[in-house]
Amino acid sequence: MDYSVINKRAAGAAAVDYIVSGMTVGLGSGSTVDYMLDKLAEKVKEGLKVQGVPTSKKTEKLAKHLGIPIVDFATITKVDLAIDGADEVDPSFHLIKGGGGSLVREKIVDANAQQLIIIIDETKKVPQLGTYPLPIEIVPFGWQKTAEAIAAFGVEPKLRKLSEQDVFVSDNGNYILDCPFKLIEDPHSLHQQLKQLVGVIETGLFTSMADIVIAGEEGKVEKLT
Ligand code: A5P
Repeated sequence: MDYSVINKRAAGAAAVDYIVSGMTVGLGSGSTVDYMLDKLAEKVKEGLKVQGVPTSKKTEKLAKHLGIPIVDFATITKVDLAIDGADEVDPSFHLIKGGGGSLVREKIVDANAQQLIIIIDETKKVPQLGTYPLPIEIVPFGWQKTAEAIAAFGVEPKLRKLSEQDVFVSDNGNYILDCPFKLIEDPHSLHQQLKQLVGVIETGLFTSMADIVIAGEEGKVEKLT
């Protein structure tokens, strides 16, 4: 098995140890979260009582398939803990997320959680954000104009596509621009500036949100707080 799978699985399993019976848990998106769901499903079968708030249609489908109870986000008063993946994590726990296209729902659920645990394999740890192209969710109408406004930041936004003809559409019915900034000096400030542009819905910069980062490395886990 490839090491990244082993490490993602290890990180996912370690995060499940933070879940106690009775919790409402935000369920992130991506392959690392999928491994976490496998482990959580085992615990649910053994009697752990939880309700999950999924951050994507894909996570919802998998959680239901695995027998993890799902709750409607609109009906709950608090999310005790959210567990989510990331594409890059810097030493201050600022993140780039959205590689799977679920950044908006992830940010809403993660921001409303009392605690956020990020699970990654070690390759996601970076000294500074920006190598991974920053996903930005935008309104489809006039998307070219929004892309032009983002390009003024010195980046070449690329419309995410499924194929030559098919544009990727998020769970919210929007487009995503992947923006290779290369080096992001001040993630919070960049996020604030991008959010002000007409047509931008949300950026994949998650700043000052993560409480704990669990990184899988050589089959073991490193817990950073
Ligand atoms: C989904 O939109 C993303 O934010 C994921 O959490 C992120 O891309 C990490 O995905 P993997 O766990 O598949 O690497």
